[in-house]
Amino acid sequence: MIPDRSTAPTAADGTAVPLAEVRAAFGVAAAYALLAPSVFNTQPWRWQIGRDAVLTLRADRSRQVHSVDATRRLLLVSCGAALHHARLALAVAGYRTEVVRFPRGGDPDVLARITVTGRQDPDPEQSRQHAAGRRRRTDRRAFGDRTVPESTLRRLRAVVEAEGAYLHLVRDDQMPMLAVATANAASVELDDPGYRAELRRWTNRPPESRDGVPAASAVRQGLRRVPIREHALDGTPGLEVGDGTDRGAAYAILFGIGDAPADLLAGGEALSALLLTAVAEGLATAPLSDPIELDWPRWLMRNLLADIGEPYVVVRLGFVDDPSPLPPVLRREPADVIEYAD
Ligand SMILES: Cc1cc2nc3c(=O)[nH]c(=O)nc-3n(C[C@H](O)[C@H](O)[C@H](O)COP(=O)(O)O)c2cc1C
Repeated sequence: MIPDRSTAPTAADGTAVPLAEVRAAFGVAAAYALLAPSVFNTQPWRWQIGRDAVLTLRADRSRQVHSVDATRRLLLVSCGAALHHARLALAVAGYRTEVVRFPRGGDPDVLARITVTGRQDPDPEQSRQHAAGRRRRTDRRAFGDRTVPESTLRRLRAVVEAEGAYLHLVRDDQMPMLAVATANAASVELDDPGYRAELRRWTNRPPESRDGVPAASAVRQGLRRVPIREHALDGTPGLEVGDGTDRGAAYAILFGIGDAPADLLAGGEALSALLLTAVAEGLATAPLSDPIELDWPRWLMRNLLADIGEPYVVVRLGFVDDPSPLPPVLRREPADVIEYAD
């Protein structure tokens, strides 16, 4: 039912949330969602705040990284992460919401519509995740020897499953396969002029674009358990690998049962929940998607999952020995991604 535009929407429990308040809360949530991780920091989404008190998430195809993401998988995972961030912001602000993913209507770029259905008391766990969103950063440095506690890994698995996806912890005997698949993907991609052009595009952004991965956030190439994507083809990476060896790091494959757009969007929501929970638990995190981007390494990743699901992204989790803060990564202005229908 489309609510009466001149009056405040009324929740199922009878609690009216004034329209102006809902629209303001949507603005705050969409702005918070800019903190979400995205492939090459492309931030490939747009939000519309309608007069009918609906917040609509749209995919921005102009930000698709074609050479590694011809099928929009990574774009959809990134948009899912933004959707989870927005849901979290609304929940923490005390709103109960309803989310319709891929609503009927035929426009494949409309990914979700969110409505406020009432008020609720914020959940402390969600508040912790929300606070972690401001601290979370992709940390490409090597992690230390301290291992991730089993209890934390169980917790991470639970938050991922609550979002409709799954987590496979790469076993020691599977690590060589992950390393080989990632190294091969990186080398094939770097041989592709189309990839190099897109990599240059997203790692050499003019400051006013407020997106992309700056050389300051790239890490020097070095011997790693699993190689890290080269982000500074022409410049000097700003980060040293550090003293760590990644020996204590956990590598997890986030996966789901399907590869349809709705599965990938849910995968992105799960990725966000995973990263924010990990950061709240004191872990450093780094998604890596190179082994998922090309058919052959992706097939190897599916083998690591014993063919029970579709891999969405790999995540490295661990503790950093180096307490120095990471350089800032820019985000677009809210006005560039949020459109108000007046
Ligand atoms: C779907 C997805 C794939 C990503 N793949 C990689 C990757 O292969 N290597 C990497 O270093 N970072 C990867 N990232 C991290 C992004 O580069 C990072 O989120 C973005 O630059 C914004 O920086 P931040 O996470 O520090 O906020 C990925 C992120 C997402 C959401």
